[in-house]
Amino acid sequence: MNYRFAGRMGRVPESFLAELFRVSAVPGVISFAGGLPGSAYIDVEGIREAAREVFADEGRTALQYTTTDGYLPLREFIAGRYRQRLGLPATAEEIQIVNGSQQCLDLVAKIFLDPGDAVGMERPGYLGAIEAFSLYEPVFHSVPLDENGPDLEAFGSLIRDHAPKFFYGIPNSQNPSGRTYSQERRRGIAEILDETETVFYEDDAFGELFFDGQPRLPVKRYLPDQTVISGSFSKIVAPGMRIGWIYAPAPVLREFNVAKQAADLHSNFLCQVILHRYLATHDLDAHVRRVSAVYGRHCRLMCDLLDDLMPPGATHTNPEGGMFMTAALPSGVSSMDVFREGVREGVAVLPGTPFYVNGGGEDTIRLNFSAAGEEEITEGMHRLARVVRRLV
Ligand SMILES: Cc1ncc(COP(=O)(O)O)c(C=O)c1O
Repeated sequence: MNYRFAGRMGRVPESFLAELFRVSAVPGVISFAGGLPGSAYIDVEGIREAAREVFADEGRTALQYTTTDGYLPLREFIAGRYRQRLGLPATAEEIQIVNGSQQCLDLVAKIFLDPGDAVGMERPGYLGAIEAFSLYEPVFHSVPLDENGPDLEAFGSLIRDHAPKFFYGIPNSQNPSGRTYSQERRRGIAEILDETETVFYEDDAFGELFFDGQPRLPVKRYLPDQTVISGSFSKIVAPGMRIGWIYAPAPVLREFNVAKQAADLHSNFLCQVILHRYLATHDLDAHVRRVSAVYGRHCRLMCDLLDDLMPPGATHTNPEGGMFMTAALPSGVSSMDVFREGVREGVAVLPGTPFYVNGGGEDTIRLNFSAAGEEEITEGMHRLARVVRRLV
């Protein structure tokens, strides 16, 4: 049978993920390649208790259909957190619940992009965004990231020369680099975008996970009517619930709601109600502090081991939060060779290439520090260093 799939399916970069999951599941392999939050820090007991209460008190409602925008008390909780943590004047009307913030990537692209439209991204950029946007056949333009965020000169040229429909960025603990934009860069981005028709799509998957516990002011603070934020409970409560949200200006939300309704009517209502019950009866701040402190220790351990064990020429980013860092390999060492040899040595890393829309990243690897424990990190870094030393 010749299945005549849509041409857009051929535009999605070949996914490396299947191969990755295969090798990461091999017994004995320590994986820094995935992106899982630490399983040990999912509050299974607390969520079980919340679920029990929901079934007892309001099971019939929670198991019904609901509105596309999502459970109002949960949206109020999210808006309240923006007001309290970041001083943003958010209201529940500006928030809609989605099926994990990954769904925002699909739906924002769906409502903005016609084939051939320009999209701006960071270089390197989030692999899941590249995949989601690719289905709408845009032309990608990317801006290099340094330790303070996107290069503003390159950012300005991109906006002037290509007028992208939106620029997608992750100002807090970016995936894959772990870098955080400085406040000056955030202001600079807002100044450049002001009075253009380019939307800033601010993916804030990691903003709660700063090791110092201090929130950073989002770009939306400087550019409120032109910024769309996506957020998620995946990294701070449980990814399996698939609950995220979009926080956006009313005209964007109207279109978004149409696309969301067409896609899936609404996100899993049972999970929304259970999650809200959990949040109302547990101290999220304390939980987030605990998780951030653990990730901070993991990150420092990984940085120290890279410094101590890797051969000369290897460098790494120094994340202030989140779950990922990027390491640059010594000159001439290929990340694909490190991936293949690594699996033989019992350690999996993610080669940098899928994070580059227009080529690059052959000499970088992404390392996750949230999933493995400290002993595994120590053993895995020794294995990785042996592999890289052999390849120099
Ligand atoms: C930067 C970024 N955005 C969005 C997502 C999607 O997360 P979720 O759909 O679980 O909210 C991820 C997942 O790792 C991510 O790293």
